[in-house]
Amino acid sequence: MNRCVVGLQWGDEGKGKVVDILAEDSDIVVRYNGGANAGHTVVVGGDKFALHLLPSGAVRPQTVCVITSAVVVDPETLLGEIDGLSQKGISLNNRLFISENAHLVLDYHKMEDRLREESLGKNKIGTTARGIGPCNADKAGRSNAIRMGDLLNLSGLESKLRGIVEYKNRIFTSVYNAEPIDLKSVLDKCRSYAEKLLPFVIDTTEYLHGVLAQGKSVLFEGAQGTLLDIDHGTFPFVTSANVSALGMPAGAGVPAKCVDEFVGVAKCYTTRVGSGPFPTELDNETGQLIRDKGHEYGTTTGRPRRCGWFDAVIASYSVAIGGIDAVALMHLDTLSGLNELKICTAYEIEGKRTSFFPANIGKLAKAKCVYDTLAGWKEDITQTADFSQLPLNARNYVTFVEKCIKKPVTMIGVGPNRRQTIFKR
Ligand code: GDP
Ligand code: IMO
Ligand code: MG
Repeated sequence: MNRCVVGLQWGDEGKGKVVDILAEDSDIVVRYNGGANAGHTVVVGGDKFALHLLPSGAVRPQTVCVITSAVVVDPETLLGEIDGLSQKGISLNNRLFISENAHLVLDYHKMEDRLREESLGKNKIGTTARGIGPCNADKAGRSNAIRMGDLLNLSGLESKLRGIVEYKNRIFTSVYNAEPIDLKSVLDKCRSYAEKLLPFVIDTTEYLHGVLAQGKSVLFEGAQGTLLDIDHGTFPFVTSANVSALGMPAGAGVPAKCVDEFVGVAKCYTTRVGSGPFPTELDNETGQLIRDKGHEYGTTTGRPRRCGWFDAVIASYSVAIGGIDAVALMHLDTLSGLNELKICTAYEIEGKRTSFFPANIGKLAKAKCVYDTLAGWKEDITQTADFSQLPLNARNYVTFVEKCIKKPVTMIGVGPNRRQTIFKR
């Protein structure tokens, strides 16, 4: 069975935990999009891993990990992760494969990201400052792009980087009034990346087609969430790639039809980091309560996440455009203790009611939420292992979500740990 795990909201839905669980039945886990803007948390026993570039299957010592060409790779972060796991006795040797066509995020990308955001003031996107937008812009522009395979030819890389650094420095100094960057330091770093990363570099497309033909079980791990998709999300407050399920075939280099099940991950409420409209946002005590109880602070940047009620308009949209088959609903435990819970089932926009997510962000900003109110539950559910053992109101909540999104909820998160999961078929 081949599966693909994708976020249905604005990221941080709990994809890392779901991938870690599904990886038990997979031979290979594939990261096929995003970059070190992602932060995927896996909690096993007393160990907590926060992964940015390595597939979440990395914590299982037998699982093969693949990073495909559509991932923009920050070599420094990746090497830090490989070292971090190795210090915990988990080696990636002979089981990590990185695409030779993956683009490199270098220091000047991160600098450009930061300077551009600073210059935007209150209109900033609220990026993670990990250089993702500038690197993807260089990828689309082609002439200034550096890929993993460029590390194979260091003298060719030097002449390419000389031109790029000259160009970037003209922008840094004249547009942003910032200090120029030093070619030598970029080159020295690239030499060290080449030495450490080239042993992992292969043609991942050929590799994936080979293992799929052999009938190996492959798990595709998406980063971010559907509402952050550059074409189908809340543009311009999105990331710079197709991070909905629609990006999976392009990102992995294999057809969507080789996936037997697309698993969408959503929280029982909604969170978002960065700027942009958020119809169900709770900028009040309840929002703060969810933030505190759910530890809603960014895995990558530590920023407090904005919190709000579950938005079934958003979730249904993400399910529809992504062809989602089953849903993992996380953080049910975080809602315990609230007297009543609301779920947004439609928007009123300029007097008209709609249950289909509007493509126009101006309309979204005007959306007033139509809510259904459900009764809460008081019990601690963090040790509950069976759906039938959940309090009636918790079961009703899950069933109501299923009714709204018209897909089965097959996994329910009742805590961060791998074992705090209810399976429901
Ligand atoms: P991802 O980016 O989608 O992988 O999600 P993150 O790891 O950024 O954020 C999800 C956070 O929620 C992490 O701290 C997880 O450990 C935690 N988490 C995941 N599922 C659950 C759950 O069901 N309950 C609780 N309380 N925490 C969860
Ligand atoms: P995971 O995989 C949550 C958001 C940023 C910002 C916007 C653009 O952990 O779910 P970028 O740095 O990509 O240019 O930022 O996208 N963003 C995420 N939010 N989870 C993520 O990843 C995110 N990756 C990017 O906060 O609003
Ligand atoms: Mg995250």
